[in-house]
Amino acid sequence: MAAKPAEITLQSGLRYMPGRLGRDEQEKLVDTIRDIVARAPLYVPVMPGSGRPMSVRMTNCGPLGWVTDKDRGYRYQANHPTTGEPWPDIPSVLLDLWRDLSGHSKDPEACLVNFYTDKAKMGLHQDRDETDLAAPVLSISLGNTCLFRIGGLERTDRTKSLRLESGDIFILGGEGRLCYHGVDRIYPGTSTLLKAGGRINLTLRRVNP
Ligand code: SIN
Ligand code: FE2
Repeated sequence: MAAKPAEITLQSGLRYMPGRLGRDEQEKLVDTIRDIVARAPLYVPVMPGSGRPMSVRMTNCGPLGWVTDKDRGYRYQANHPTTGEPWPDIPSVLLDLWRDLSGHSKDPEACLVNFYTDKAKMGLHQDRDETDLAAPVLSISLGNTCLFRIGGLERTDRTKSLRLESGDIFILGGEGRLCYHGVDRIYPGTSTLLKAGGRINLTLRRVNP
């Protein structure tokens, strides 16, 4: 029998599960994400106020999706910002993972799909647009390895960097729910999962209590 993958607690509420998903599971998940993207195309999110485009492209699945634009800022909404269609359902494989790992009784309402080219990154930020901060955020990495940075509850707190690889799961919950985090870089050529390179990150979120 395969050994149970390790779970490392970085600090209270921050759970790191390297290699949690095997190659088969990762491939199936990528196929599922392709179906979602076919129905809810990736779009370029822009920063509130400045309207500056982010380098990551995004879409969502679930009853709600996280979006951002120049005028209305960060928020959750039920429809895709460019097609106006409801987001596709969260695939059952992701609901199962959430039920297994989150320790939260209610299902996620949003799955944000972030697509990073090998040049994309994401600045240090908190996930704080959810009303229910008792639920964790569960993050899944697919494709090329990234340099993930995780800090504390203040932007100026000391940060740690770790390489998140394809199949890794990272959970921000409990006392770590509002820790600052970001992606400093993607390492090209570190995974064969995505034929065109880059990285996909999925985050499952519960929005409402
Ligand atoms: C995010 O914070 O939304 C994404 C984190 C990641 O890409 O690992
Ligand atoms: Fe985040």
